Amino acid sequence: MSQQPRSVTVLGLGPMGQAMVRAFLEAGVEVTVWNRSAEKADAMAELGAKRAATVAEALEANEVAVLSLTHYAAMYDVLGQAAEHLAGKVIANLSSDSPEQTRRGAAWVRAHGAEFLSGGVMSAGDNIAHPASYIFYSGPREVFDAHAEVLRPLSPQEYLGVDDGLAQVFYQALLTIFHPWMLAFDQAMALIANSGNEIDRFLPFALRSNEAFPYFMSDFAAAAKAGGWGDRAQLAMMDAGAQHVVDASVEAGVDASLSRAAQALWRKAIAASESAGAPVPVYAVMRGA
Ligand SMILES: NC(=O)c1ccc[n+]([C@@H]2O[C@H](COP(=O)([O-])OP(=O)(O)OC[C@H]3O[C@@H](n4cnc5c(N)ncnc54)[C@H](OP(=O)(O)O)[C@@H]3O)[C@@H](O)[C@H]2O)c1
Repeated sequence: MSQQPRSVTVLGLGPMGQAMVRAFLEAGVEVTVWNRSAEKADAMAELGAKRAATVAEALEANEVAVLSLTHYAAMYDVLGQAAEHLAGKVIANLSSDSPEQTRRGAAWVRAHGAEFLSGGVMSAGDNIAHPASYIFYSGPREVFDAHAEVLRPLSPQEYLGVDDGLAQVFYQALLTIFHPWMLAFDQAMALIANSGNEIDRFLPFALRSNEAFPYFMSDFAAAAKAGGWGDRAQLAMMDAGAQHVVDASVEAGVDASLSRAAQALWRKAIAASESAGAPVPVYAVMRGA
């Protein structure tokens, strides 16, 4: 039997914080909650969480506090209300932000006498119980090891290393893929719908194309390690291909700004290749080479 404390505090009750509270409660972990907008804490109390009246009370309730806030700026607003209650506590900030903001936040928390872990919640939306969901963690290994058990109900864990910013480097890199994918899928469905077609007829083809992405990822990763994908002929082909997507979208009355942004990058690489007299792949352009 584990001797780990079976109780935590959750600060921040947006859709993600609420999903975390539910996961803890379902796993039999006692949860104390606090949220800036009190009504969200009331809703969690109805599920069985204890409601703290202040941040200080929430911090005092447990050794470990999980933060699920919009960004790190909110952490200062929240913990700043009770900074004198941080000493001896463990703050696991699972909010999204840049790696550098995370490192600064970690230093601020430690300066107030608490341990710190950062996390990037790589979940299927706020469905942390989805089989594809997991959480990146970074920070001191011994702090992660000491508290991994109580955090386990949230999602499978991927500890990356001691650098506080590391979880956010990996998390933001994956969101870099996800954001344009979301928008591209909207554009594709808009093209289908505006052309008088059924989205349900299109979906199986989109899913089928998705099966090729692991192949492309492995291929592009190998190419990146060798400098990046795309000789001059391939860059010209992508420029022309992007124009066809722009034309198809415009013909159907669909916003093509995403495709224009893609085309602008291929054109940048073509221009860089021309001035270098050798292929400059988009990967190299993006790295600022
Ligand atoms: N939702 C998802 O699908 C998802 C998936 C993966 C990762 N994440 C990340 O997880 C974190 C939380 O997500 P979420 O969807 O729950 O975010 P959210 O809707 O932005 O809610 C975040 C929480 O932050 C609080 N907050 C924001 N600014 C504050 C301030 N200045 N002072 C005090 N409290 C403040 C909000 O309080 P109020 O209720 O008072 O506004 C709310 O409790 C974010 O960093 C997000 O990027 C979310």
